[in-house]
Amino acid sequence: MHILGVSCYFHDSAAALLRNGLLVAAAEEERFTRKKHDYEFPRHAIDFCLRTGGLRAADLDYVVFFEKPFIKFERLLLSSLQTFPRSHRVFRESMIAWFGDKLWIRHLLQRELGLPPAKILFTEHHLSHAASAFFCSPFEEAAVLTVDGVGEWTTASIGVGRGTDVRLLREIRFPHSLGLLYSAFTAFLGFEVNEGEYKVMGMAPFGTPRYIDQVRKLIRISQDGSFELDMDYFSFHHSTSRTFNRAFEALFGPPRDPRANFFTRASGHPSYFGERPANHDAQARDNERYADIAASIQAVTEEALLTMARAAHRETGFPRLCMAGGVALNSVANGRVLRETPFEELYVQPAAGDGGGAIGAALYGYHTVLGKPRAFVMEHTAWGEGHGPDAVEGFLRRENIPYERLDDEDRLIDRVVDHIASGKVVGWSQGRFEWGPRALGHRSILADPRRADMKDLVNVKIKFREPFRPFAPSVLAERAEEYFWLPDAVRHYPARFMLYVVEVKPDKRQILPAITHVDGSGRLQTVHRQTNPRYYRLIERFGEATGVPVVLNTSFNLKGEPIVNTPAEAFRTFNASGMDVLVLGECVIEKDSSRTEGGAVCA
Ligand SMILES: [Fe+2]
Repeated sequence: MHILGVSCYFHDSAAALLRNGLLVAAAEEERFTRKKHDYEFPRHAIDFCLRTGGLRAADLDYVVFFEKPFIKFERLLLSSLQTFPRSHRVFRESMIAWFGDKLWIRHLLQRELGLPPAKILFTEHHLSHAASAFFCSPFEEAAVLTVDGVGEWTTASIGVGRGTDVRLLREIRFPHSLGLLYSAFTAFLGFEVNEGEYKVMGMAPFGTPRYIDQVRKLIRISQDGSFELDMDYFSFHHSTSRTFNRAFEALFGPPRDPRANFFTRASGHPSYFGERPANHDAQARDNERYADIAASIQAVTEEALLTMARAAHRETGFPRLCMAGGVALNSVANGRVLRETPFEELYVQPAAGDGGGAIGAALYGYHTVLGKPRAFVMEHTAWGEGHGPDAVEGFLRRENIPYERLDDEDRLIDRVVDHIASGKVVGWSQGRFEWGPRALGHRSILADPRRADMKDLVNVKIKFREPFRPFAPSVLAERAEEYFWLPDAVRHYPARFMLYVVEVKPDKRQILPAITHVDGSGRLQTVHRQTNPRYYRLIERFGEATGVPVVLNTSFNLKGEPIVNTPAEAFRTFNASGMDVLVLGECVIEKDSSRTEGGAVCA
């Protein structure tokens, strides 16, 4: 039986294909169209899933859409009417968009895939999130927590998963939304909503949560895990362009200019920001106020999530928790849920945002609607498109790019380890690209985490990121506990997906300066031999050579672009940046040699 899950028209559109309950392929549309957070109908992702499964659309038994458009439309309609006339623009724009195509998903899927209406099913947005976490987890029963901006009406829920059934017990409804509260601060702090939330999280440790009392005016959290926003401070319920209003600014001061460079006295002024401004100290102090605000919203978000998790534990009595929804990507909060609630084990679906709804919808259809038994655990994220040796070499030859092919894996890995240990920055593209927003050793840029200057070096060469954004470490799962505070690290699924921020052990911070954040934390990825053998071997060999089985891992993309998919995209990114070495499968391209030797190809 073949089921296709589809999510689109909100944040990240995606498709996922199940065969007899096992995942065959899953990808977000942005990786094919190169439009970051592409939310259009995921034509390319669907084609990719069908291609990978060796299917035509007509072979599909069901297509499940991740939410119910008519209920969502009802929410838009009612909330626009309640806030009319302030909402006149949002009303007009949503009528155009919804009557254009968003409402007619069934017809669209019928037309695009040539399927009869009976094969097209719909689930609810938060049920898709819940199913995406629970049915991908290894747990037979678990509490489920979903938290995001908004689905149809629901913005957060506590639920329960048992066997082939997942259901929501309680929910919080729009406009009361933890995700939208965090997004309002993301916008206030000068970042793009649905993109800059990580930046707020990264900025928080540079500040002190001095504005907690002000943030608490905006949200009231009850001990039962519910919360309520004071809508006097927000405009997201009646505006398409603004999320907060003047009353919000009266509490927190003027919003940060999105074009201004962010640095504090603790972060220093990085060289890639250009010359140090004359009023450096005044600017740094002003930025510290914004960091204090980031620290405050992060602290209150953690408090809300911890309260919800504790309530979910009380209500279900289960020792395990599954989480999804965009807020479940807040890896700092996730680390605290593990450490500070009675839950013993967590599972967070790696594509916790709306893209992940595609997998949840398909799994919900297969297990809960059709009652089929469970057979799948998501142990890794390599569900995207892969490009074999023929495709890689075909591209390199066509473009006359000099390369060396090292079929002996030990030789390949030794070469890469030598480069990393000597301070080179390596683009590493192997196998199928990752599902979800994190690069986990399939489309990664790698560097030596032991060098204090490596963070700046990677930023200057490739990323141009704000200096407060930390780089992440990949560590052998079995060795993680030597370096990070994560007891029994092998067991923790979220760490496989880089979804926990934990403490770097104090005596190891000096050894790993490039991946240790200002507060001594690190967002580790544990690497397992069974699920990512070549990447595991690389880190293992780096450990043998240097004594430290950890590499710095950042996503393989230029600032503002989606992570690369094809060899051509990887090469273009390599060429446009200061990366030193590119590894495409077994083929190694070294920048210096490609400059000096013209067109020689050795196989
Ligand atoms: Fe969502």
